[in-house]
Amino acid sequence: MPVIAVVGGQWGDEGKGKIIDLLAKRAQVVVRAQGGDNAGHTIVNEQVGRFALHLVPAGIFNPRTTCIIGAGVALNPVFLLEELDALHGLRVSTDNLLISERAHLVMPYHIELDRLQEARRGGGAIGTTGRGIGPAYVDKVSRTGLRAGDLCDPQTLPARIREAVAAKNQLFQVLYQAPGLDPERVVEAYSLAAERLRPYIRDASGALAAALRQNETILLEGAQATLLDLDHGTYPYVTTSSPTVAGLLQGAGIGPRFLTCGLGVFKAYTTRVGSGPMPTELDDELGGRLRAIGHEYGARTGRPRRCGWFDAVAARYSVLVNGFDALAITRLDILDTFDPVRICVGYEWRGQRLDQFPARAEVLAECRPIYEDLEGWQAPIGQARTLAELPAAARRYLERLEQLLEVPIALVGVGQEREETIMVRDLL
Ligand code: IMP
Repeated sequence: MPVIAVVGGQWGDEGKGKIIDLLAKRAQVVVRAQGGDNAGHTIVNEQVGRFALHLVPAGIFNPRTTCIIGAGVALNPVFLLEELDALHGLRVSTDNLLISERAHLVMPYHIELDRLQEARRGGGAIGTTGRGIGPAYVDKVSRTGLRAGDLCDPQTLPARIREAVAAKNQLFQVLYQAPGLDPERVVEAYSLAAERLRPYIRDASGALAAALRQNETILLEGAQATLLDLDHGTYPYVTTSSPTVAGLLQGAGIGPRFLTCGLGVFKAYTTRVGSGPMPTELDDELGGRLRAIGHEYGARTGRPRRCGWFDAVAARYSVLVNGFDALAITRLDILDTFDPVRICVGYEWRGQRLDQFPARAEVLAECRPIYEDLEGWQAPIGQARTLAELPAAARRYLERLEQLLEVPIALVGVGQEREETIMVRDLL
């Protein structure tokens, strides 16, 4: 009965999509449990070439895998349909998709609010993806949200939408002096989407209970990452869901005792999109080289990602928050031409050494990294399929990460393709 949670250990974009795509071949169920179309999971496989998924779980390329959009997801039905159409265009069947009735809906007024709130924050802007995810979760918490289940009742849906738009229009006019939305346009767009999505919407807990009973393999697909977690991340520069092992179990609706493996995915270096402190950020030629070699541009927004060395202080904190059982280290090949390769092993803050990841973004912003330098391997590693085939210096780098994080490495990514992976130990 393996239940594996695949969770980003840094600030997102660790390459979780590829890991899920790889593991999904042997899973019966893949669940997206939190976040929304703010995520971008780039998949590269022989079936579709390169494809960026935003809402659909990365198990979709295997027709025998049930893919669930779980209760904890913020779901924009219009964007989901665009994604489904794109998949159909590539002859990928989506008959194996199931949407939880409990998932909350992202509405057009959430996107508008996201934009207005960011504009009002000025210099303190979070750098959100602008997909309305934060405002949608605010409505969920204030118990005024619409849910996927509401799309199933064509009799009551228009009135619910009109009421919700009217309430938000008041907010737009009074707080932002903004014009507000035409409720009838929202009713039209969402009624059309509802008609097409209705066959997918069900109570996901039935499917999960059946899978658990039949000892099937369930993958919980994390989006965003631990350092963007609403509670445990670099608040306020965070997303609005819980992209941790516990958050995935909660969002999927599976009790913690069913979990068999929390897999932490870490890039061999660090990237971040959006605002907020990042102690190992390289604002220089080296950072530019990492971005160029790693094509580090946001899958969702196209924004250049901020790049830097591996931050073991942040990563150890992430291990604590999640209790990872195993690690996937991705994109090791991006470091092929660097010498030395550096790992941040502590912070210097106002003359003191810090070994703990600070809770306050203001403190983290003042932390200077203390680096340990390791010899670079300066050789292409894309062909390696076992650890023994890696240059000794690359192995030493991985061993040092394992030592610092105190979690065994199960997988190492050495290229974009599914096959360009070293399976160190079996997870399934
Ligand atoms: P939001 O999730 O759109 O509200 O954005 C909040 C913060 O999370 C911003 O810094 C975003 O750049 C970041 N973020 C959201 N989704 C992702 C993701 O999938 N990868 C990386 N960063 C993300």
